Amino acid sequence: MVGQHSRPRWHYSPQHMWMNDPNGLIFNAGTWHMFYQSNPSGTVWGNMSWGHATSSDLLNWTEHKVALWHTDTEEIYSGSCVFDATNSSGFGTTDWPPLVAVYTSNYLSRDGRPRVQAQSLAYSLDGGSHWTTYPGNPVLNRDSTDFRDPKVFRHGDVWVMVAVEAEQHQVVIYRSTNLTEWTHASTFGPAHAAAGVWECPDLFELPVANEGRSKWVLLVNLNPGGVAGGSGCQYFVGDFDGYTFTPDALVGLSTDPALGLADPLLRAYDWVDFGRDCYAVTSFADVPDGRRIVLGWMNNWDYANDVPLTGGRSIMTIPREIDLIRIGDRYRLRQRPIRELPDAALERHTLADGDLVLIRGVALEYHDGVLSLDRRGVGRTDFHEGFGTRQWAEVPERPRNVTIDILLDTCSIEVFAAGGLVVISDLVFF
Ligand code: FRU
Repeated sequence: MVGQHSRPRWHYSPQHMWMNDPNGLIFNAGTWHMFYQSNPSGTVWGNMSWGHATSSDLLNWTEHKVALWHTDTEEIYSGSCVFDATNSSGFGTTDWPPLVAVYTSNYLSRDGRPRVQAQSLAYSLDGGSHWTTYPGNPVLNRDSTDFRDPKVFRHGDVWVMVAVEAEQHQVVIYRSTNLTEWTHASTFGPAHAAAGVWECPDLFELPVANEGRSKWVLLVNLNPGGVAGGSGCQYFVGDFDGYTFTPDALVGLSTDPALGLADPLLRAYDWVDFGRDCYAVTSFADVPDGRRIVLGWMNNWDYANDVPLTGGRSIMTIPREIDLIRIGDRYRLRQRPIRELPDAALERHTLADGDLVLIRGVALEYHDGVLSLDRRGVGRTDFHEGFGTRQWAEVPERPRNVTIDILLDTCSIEVFAAGGLVVISDLVFF
């Protein structure tokens, strides 16, 4: 078909349909599950439902039928999955515990009534193949138009949910013993980048390299207002006591959309990725061996509906293993492609100050402690005027030389620099 771009080798992409956020990432009974925002009948955003794919190695994925369908009155927005091992919900039995999906019901506006977003449940008793919606839905309703993207995890013997009040730039934290009844615990934000809506939060404990301790990391995706323009993911490092997330330190708040990339405060914040195409970043539940693995939607709402088809429309980033490392008085996120990715898939370069390498036309340059990626004029850029841009990041401590590991695919480039302290991920339609 004219205009089709070949499907990526290393990155998940649906065969035919539209995809956005990863949802309900979980490792269960030896299988990696990836659900995702899907339009089951089109290649642009709409009819939001949960698509489903599984993998045994996080690299080769099998696409399955839609897991959770939209209806005439309700769309299935982003959310998460938990394995309810003690059957706290009562959806299964103690011998046969359920997988439970916690998602946002986007109740469409009707007869002049505004839309409502509230949190709902569905469960599966056959390892994720068939899903039953809970008749008591929604289980958490604040009568809000923009309350969404619940991420649920186990903390001691309770369930904790982080979700957003998107327009308020707030993460709201709730607790539950049974997944059906929720009690408000605390609210975080606005803080740092808040020029766009806050979406898809995640909260988890993460080890600090060489320190024998851990800290808590709060991921907050926002759109627009990201560091590279449009969609981006910021993070906060701090502590969590089961009720309240307390960040280590905050600098000023950036709320003015008109400032855009000119706002100097943006560069003072912590970002998961400095590229244009890493959004809705979220982590897998129940990963063995204490690994924490995240991935994002490799796209940007600035132009997502217009990018060339690769079978369907949109791909995910490579899954990444993460930890923290202290640099000066700050804890920074480190990311590496998952160890399942063969070393040979990565291309390594070391750049001294002033060096520039061209990777199939994409210019990677290191100058004065700043690493940049320039995709202007490379491959197809004509589908959207906002696509041909140059992205950059300061490398912490501005080393003399910086080593970069590059993962190149048919329509993307991901650059892991300085041991994963800086990542730049971009679509490039070579
Ligand atoms: C983020 C997002 C979520 C929402 C979903 C709808 O990309 O806007 O906040 O749940 O996409 O598809």
